[in-house]
Amino acid sequence: MKVVSLVGARPQFVKEAVVGKALDAKGIDEVLVHSGQHFDVNMSDVFFQTLHIRQPGFNLHVGSGTHGEMTGKIMVGFEKLLLDIKPDIVLVYGDTNTTLAGALVAAKLKIDTAHIEAGIRMQPKKMPEEINRVVVDSVADILFCPSKHAVNNLRKEGRIDNVHFTGDVMYDLFLMMKERFTFDVFNRLDLKKGQYVLLTLHRDYNVDDPDKLQKILEKLHRVSSDIQVVFPMHPRTRKRISEFQLEQYLKKLTIIEPCDYLNMMGLLTASWKVITDSGGLQKEAYFAGKECLVLMPDTGWVELVENKCSFLCNENNLELLVTKRSLRQHARLPDIYGKGDAARLIAETLMSL
Ligand code: UD1
Repeated sequence: MKVVSLVGARPQFVKEAVVGKALDAKGIDEVLVHSGQHFDVNMSDVFFQTLHIRQPGFNLHVGSGTHGEMTGKIMVGFEKLLLDIKPDIVLVYGDTNTTLAGALVAAKLKIDTAHIEAGIRMQPKKMPEEINRVVVDSVADILFCPSKHAVNNLRKEGRIDNVHFTGDVMYDLFLMMKERFTFDVFNRLDLKKGQYVLLTLHRDYNVDDPDKLQKILEKLHRVSSDIQVVFPMHPRTRKRISEFQLEQYLKKLTIIEPCDYLNMMGLLTASWKVITDSGGLQKEAYFAGKECLVLMPDTGWVELVENKCSFLCNENNLELLVTKRSLRQHARLPDIYGKGDAARLIAETLMSL
């Protein structure tokens, strides 16, 4: 069986890190294609190096652009590759423009398409990530769901066949790498265990609107008088802050470059709390037993909010929620994201088809 996996952005590299190895273990031939959506060394190469991901057989080098440009360029390049490689199955991951482009091309070439992290839904519906998810799920043939909630979302939309609850491959990776989390960045910054908040912020929903971004940064500036805020800054956010001239609000934050997975998990496990708008970090905060403030009006990881492991917040109540000592003791929810064998289940399901 020949599988083509298409990746292109950070959250996809971490998923491929476990899925690729599970495919190898079952003797499935995988051709890895990188769209080039993320291209900086610390947004791409470091993940391949530190997680020992196989080097992509092909890189489409699409780089940045508008949504249309990026999606279109990936489609043109990926279609040529698929016509040449003729795989049995195409695997796409998550909710990025790379995911959308890959699923559309494969579906139109009538190649079976499998979506890893299917069924996640969230408001607002006009977010690029949400548009990508809904379209990808509607054209994909095989849907691998990270949670039961995702399975239910698909059922409500009438999707029942070929929907598989496997658990979340990011949980597999967290368990697999736990002993290897690194503390180089933690040590370099001379941080104190449990005495800082780890922040990430990159969704266009938060950073592309100057007023909203200013309000968020003002609050973070105030929070950082009480507690150190460590902020690995995404290039999109860096650009927007410079464009909107908001640098004055960064003075008290500890700004660093984006981190590789192992250092990021090191920073997470030693933090006090997390503030984020990233879907991935919300779950990783839960895996690490950390309270997480989700800077979004909604989340696809509903079970974490329902069980008070995560808390939705906005620029108005952020400060109050961060400085509250502890919102609730963190509860473990048995197997909500599977048993750490999602990648193996995905590989086995592909074999059985
Ligand atoms: C993308 C995904 C988002 C995912 C995120 C993870 C879409 C629509 N969004 O958002 O779902 O959560 O990746 O990080 O696909 N840039 C660089 N260097 C890089 C990568 C990006 O400088 O290596 C800059 C580019 O100039 C670009 C901006 O960051 O304009 C945003 O990058 P883009 O890939 O468009 O979206 P993300 O915000 O990264």
